[in-house]
Amino acid sequence: MLFDTHAHLNAVQYDEDLQEVIQRAQDEGVSHIVVVGFDRPTIERAMELTEEYDFIYAAVGWHPVDAIDMTEEDLQWIKELASHPKVVAIGEMGLDYYWDKSPKEVQKEVFRKQIALAKEVKLPIIIHNRDATADIVQILKEENAAEVGGIMHCFSGSVEVAKQCIDMNFYISLGGPVTFKNAKKAKEVAKEIPLDRLLIETDCPYLTPHPFRGKRNEPSYVKYVAEQIAELKEITVEEVAKATTENAKKLFGISR
Ligand code: NI
Repeated sequence: MLFDTHAHLNAVQYDEDLQEVIQRAQDEGVSHIVVVGFDRPTIERAMELTEEYDFIYAAVGWHPVDAIDMTEEDLQWIKELASHPKVVAIGEMGLDYYWDKSPKEVQKEVFRKQIALAKEVKLPIIIHNRDATADIVQILKEENAAEVGGIMHCFSGSVEVAKQCIDMNFYISLGGPVTFKNAKKAKEVAKEIPLDRLLIETDCPYLTPHPFRGKRNEPSYVKYVAEQIAELKEITVEEVAKATTENAKKLFGISR
């Protein structure tokens, strides 16, 4: 059993062949997928997918790149969706200093509002971080995000930062980049961070693992992430699969 904790099957890249993509995931032993919505259309599509497939769950939030577009109505809508039985997290949310569509101050405000919302509805949060580690850690602390905890999605930082996040009740999720030859930090994290704080994800259609790097990603490829972690930790892939699936089910409150 493999749990892909971060997939964008709600992306247009799957409009043509979603059924086959899902079939391949099931053939490779993917037992659960969280589809992450980050604006109006992707949240709507994520909710549809939870109705169509029993092993698909949704996370609902607002992406930091588009923070400037989020209205109070959007926030209220996300709050209403949070009570849906298949919505298991709020996010993705966070800070992205690579793109400058939304000013930093706006991103921070929208990030803080979503953490507050998650605490209100008692759901874990999924963090997107690009070039903004120090500010993310500070805001998580100031807003006491440890109360709900969550996931550092597609973590690319150091072992030291990973440990700081774990101390704040977060899991470290590794994706395709851990399979890249030059991903020194991600490999260190896979080695050093205990299995009971690790999760796996694809972030598909992006960040495709080796040996398919450069092609469209999909949930069936999450096995390459699990295999890489197993190799680095010198344990079996079954152990990685079992632990990361149990971690995800516990965090998301999924019993089946
Ligand atoms: Ni994502």
